[in-house]
Amino acid sequence: MEIKCPTSNLQDKLRIECIEINLFLEALYQRHGYDFHHYAKASIKRRIQALAKAYEYTNIADLIPRILHDETFLTATIARLSVPVTEMFRDPSVFKALRELVLPHLCSYHRLQIWQAGCSTGEEVYSLAILLEEAGLLKRTQIYATDINDIALHQAEDGIFPIAQLKRYERNYMAAGGKRKFSDYYITNEKFFRINQDLRKHIVFAHHNLVSDGVFCEVQLVLCRNVLIYFDTNLQRRVLNLFHTSLARQGYLCLGTHESLRAIETANLFKIVDFKNMIFRNNCETI
Ligand SMILES: C[S@@+](CC[C@H](N)C(=O)[O-])C[C@H]1O[C@@H](n2cnc3c(N)ncnc32)[C@H](O)[C@@H]1O
Repeated sequence: MEIKCPTSNLQDKLRIECIEINLFLEALYQRHGYDFHHYAKASIKRRIQALAKAYEYTNIADLIPRILHDETFLTATIARLSVPVTEMFRDPSVFKALRELVLPHLCSYHRLQIWQAGCSTGEEVYSLAILLEEAGLLKRTQIYATDINDIALHQAEDGIFPIAQLKRYERNYMAAGGKRKFSDYYITNEKFFRINQDLRKHIVFAHHNLVSDGVFCEVQLVLCRNVLIYFDTNLQRRVLNLFHTSLARQGYLCLGTHESLRAIETANLFKIVDFKNMIFRNNCETI
């Protein structure tokens, strides 16, 4: 779906920029297969403007030959168009709810598979691994953490984060019902802290595009927070269907506190477990 451009001549500058944005999105799609047409309009527009500015282009149209002919520009473009903002135990109430409402039900599984979609630089998936460790589940769990941003994925694989964030993460961990000392889970030097390898070895990081890729395995829990907010309703619906198909019968979906419920209500694929933290259970009747 194209961004609707103004038609009045009075808005000529805006109109031309809008046409340029549509042409750039089409070039990105046709050349590389990345489809951003169904992302929320205002936010994708801002990010394309920021991409052009970062490379000191006067016009968005200047990005078009670059994305068509420069192979190396793709990774940087995807990184700029995605919003990799994240933190450890972000919105602690969600982790507390997962700890109390979901993990006790997962204990009955001999082997667990979990998909964290839109993992960004990894802070969220390492938080989840800590939660599983404290519930005695990590040893039997395989977590798949996926994203389209390869630069963020590499950072996630390293599991090294700035020490300046530690105090905040420690507070979040405690608010999420942390059972040990947060310092049990990392080693530090002057500038960075590194997540323990024992947590890391249960996580596989992979490139996966929620817009175009399919299901890759059956999982008992899907965690996908602060990703659907960037999609329009049609794309949200597609992704919810993907989660529904990926989930085992009675599997859980956690979307966190920032998503709109509109798509999920109409989708009728899930039953509500915790409205505030948007935790759902797969509705088996529709499988
Ligand atoms: C705001 S971050 C959320 C990170 C983490 N889930 C959290 O809540 O802290 C959004 C992430 O979604 C990823 N993303 C955006 N579009 C995607 C897509 N089509 N498929 C997979 N990941 C996508 C971005 O690359 C980015 O890392």
